[in-house]
Amino acid sequence: MANYEIVDFNSLSETVQNLLKRATEVRERAYCPYSNFKVGCALLTEDGNKVYTGCNIENSTLSPTLCAERTAIGKSVCDGYVKFKIVAVVAHQENFTAPCGVCRQTLSEFRGSDGDMEVYLGKPSHDKVLRTKLSNILPLAYVSYKKDSILS
Ligand code: THU
Repeated sequence: MANYEIVDFNSLSETVQNLLKRATEVRERAYCPYSNFKVGCALLTEDGNKVYTGCNIENSTLSPTLCAERTAIGKSVCDGYVKFKIVAVVAHQENFTAPCGVCRQTLSEFRGSDGDMEVYLGKPSHDKVLRTKLSNILPLAYVSYKKDSILS
C-alpha cells in the first residue's frame, strides 16, 4: 500500500506552496563543495506563524555535515520553536529527495501536538510534489522514556 501521493504543485494550499518556494530559495545557499548536491528545507511552526529555513552545510571531513532539515531545526530551536506542523524539502530537479534517517529521527523529536508532521518533497521546477507524513516515513520511531510514543 502506498504511503505517499504525488500531487500537482498548483493544487496545494498557498501555505504549502510558500514553504516549497522558501525551501527552493534557501537551497541556493547550500554549502556543498564536496557533493554539489544542494538541499533546502522549510519548516512551519505549529502555530502557523513562523517559517524556518535551512540548507545543507558540508565539511571536508564529511561526518560533521549538517543536512538542510537539521540546519532549519537548529535555527528554530534557538528561537524557542520546538513543534512543527509541516516540513518541506527541495533538492534535485528530477527526483524527490526524502529526509535521511538521522533527519527523520530529528524531525520526530519536534513533531506537532497531534504526534505527526506533514511532509512535502518538491523539486525546484515546482511541478509535482510528493506528499506524505512523518509517521509514514519513520514508522516505529524511537522515543525516549520521557516522551509519549506515537503509537500510544
Ligand atoms: N542531505 C540533506 O541536506 N538532507 C537529507 O535529508 C539528505 C542529504 C545533504 C547532505 C549532503 O550535504 C548532501 O545532501 C549529499 O548527501
